[in-house]
Amino acid sequence: MDNNKIDYAKVKSVLFVCLGNICRSPTAEAVFKGKAEQAGLTIDFDSAGTAAYHQGEQPDRRSAQAGAARGYSFDGMQARQFEPQDFDRFDLILAADEKNLADLRQLAKDESQYQKIGMMLQWGELPYSEVPDPYYGGSRGFELVLDLLEESAENLIERMKAAS
Ligand code: 4NP
Repeated sequence: MDNNKIDYAKVKSVLFVCLGNICRSPTAEAVFKGKAEQAGLTIDFDSAGTAAYHQGEQPDRRSAQAGAARGYSFDGMQARQFEPQDFDRFDLILAADEKNLADLRQLAKDESQYQKIGMMLQWGELPYSEVPDPYYGGSRGFELVLDLLEESAENLIERMKAAS
């Protein structure tokens, strides 16, 4: 998905997708939501996993603690698997990594669904295109996830604000 082809004024809902929906995509949901609220934008955010391993679970405690320390809310979040109807419900569907991106593209039924799919970091100006999976690592991985998502979120929200 090419940033220059997105009609930012029409983006009213965004879904974030990773593998388990307990670390990266809930963090993306919390960070983008926090930045949008600060900017006074009303956008519907949600998150999902390509896998169902953690269905019904709350976000990983390490993600929630690191995010809460920066002021983001994870209240009420519960892991769920991505479902085909999500292509109808959301204007943008953003993947954490290349595998998530490939899995989503596989599920797209037509060109309009395919065109909604992008990457969480595609507005970031840092040398990362993927959000590294922090699940099996130490606390620095969770801080990096937040740093990367904050950078991309700030730039996306700036474009949405300019278009609003
Ligand atoms: P996430 O992290 O995709 O960022 O939610 C993971 C969570 C769980 C597993 C892998 C990644 N897992 O293998 O259970």
